[in-house]
Amino acid sequence: MIDLHNIRKDFPILESGQLAYLDSSNTSLTPLQVTQAMDAYYHQYNANIHRAVYPIAERATEEYENAREKLRAFIGAESVQELVFTRNATEAINLVARTWGTKNLGEGDLVVLSIMEHHSNIVPWQMLQVEKKFQIHFVSLTEEGRLDMSDLKKVLESGRVKLVALSHKSNVLGVENPVQTIVQLAHEVGAKVLLDGSQAVPHLPVDVREIGSDFYAFTGHKMCGPTGIGVLYAKRKLLEAMPPFLGGGEMIRTVETSGSTWNDLPYKFEAGTQNIAGAIGLGAAVDYLQRLDMKNIQKYEQQLLQLALQKLQQVKGLRIFGPLDTKERGAAVSFELKGIHPHDLATILGERGVCVRAGHHCAMPLMKHLQVPATTRMSLYFYNTEEEIDRLIRGIEEARRLFS
Ligand SMILES: Cc1ncc(COP(=O)(O)O)c(C=O)c1O
Repeated sequence: MIDLHNIRKDFPILESGQLAYLDSSNTSLTPLQVTQAMDAYYHQYNANIHRAVYPIAERATEEYENAREKLRAFIGAESVQELVFTRNATEAINLVARTWGTKNLGEGDLVVLSIMEHHSNIVPWQMLQVEKKFQIHFVSLTEEGRLDMSDLKKVLESGRVKLVALSHKSNVLGVENPVQTIVQLAHEVGAKVLLDGSQAVPHLPVDVREIGSDFYAFTGHKMCGPTGIGVLYAKRKLLEAMPPFLGGGEMIRTVETSGSTWNDLPYKFEAGTQNIAGAIGLGAAVDYLQRLDMKNIQKYEQQLLQLALQKLQQVKGLRIFGPLDTKERGAAVSFELKGIHPHDLATILGERGVCVRAGHHCAMPLMKHLQVPATTRMSLYFYNTEEEIDRLIRGIEEARRLFS
């Protein structure tokens, strides 16, 4: 059960009741428990990790590594060695492209992405493509806005696919991709799979071992954590074989003037002083989400989503992009309102305290596919209320009247 009354007290930003925050797919709100954990680091045991031996430094190291363990358990990874802290999902994907990709991709190979990808899962591959000369295939979408599985199967039959890199859940259409099936199909032809879980990990139970993905990237600030911290999960054997990403302190075992050797996993991929407070804050966010229980979160969001879809469909001139039912779909809904530019709509809503995002949502190829320059997107999280959805609808109706 989601106890909204008590939950909302954890988010001081909601205290005034003025704000209907419907932009959690962009970044989620941060509960007190997370900022308090970060405060505790800075005010009680502020020290660098993995280096000094005095007590507060030992505590800082312990809390940082505890956070890694919490994340391991949260996504069901086998070992903490498979979890690398990064700045965000973007850096996690770049890490894979620059290390695994540089070593394993070349002319004649195919990398499979989809039209619904966020730029962070397109641009790193395009940058590498310039050097490595592989080809990129973008899997198309069905009319409903789901991944076209027949297109994916066809391209896998080519025998040239080395990597399938897809979002677990779309930030624009809300669709949840059948990731377990995708992994199976890709593995059958010897391709590796990278999943961008940025929109999945905050909203549904994720078990990377059950999914079977080789790489899984996600970002802290969409799951009640702070900004500047993300995670790359990768199977241990792959991480072991991958060259380091950034060079510097901490990622080495030995350094001689003639060359260097690399540290153990996962430190080989964590060069320099890390975002210690960020990792500790993300650990506290995991505690918070686990206390609520991801199954409860998912169930509550589905209820809210159903209501939002119903009410949005009743607005005259409003067109929703993506599935109209809640099946295998998360609570991010993109739409357009006839005759009103998404930015104007978002501005009018913003003036009424309703926070939604307008723009291309870092998914320009998808906008082109949908034949729109931009959409308005509302996205829900466990702290949202039915009343906030009503405020959104009232705001849209007002905007419609203003522009008619
Ligand atoms: C699906 C998806 N992937 C990746 C990202 C990138 O996240 P970050 O900017 O934290 O790296 C986002 C953020 O909007 C996203 O929605």
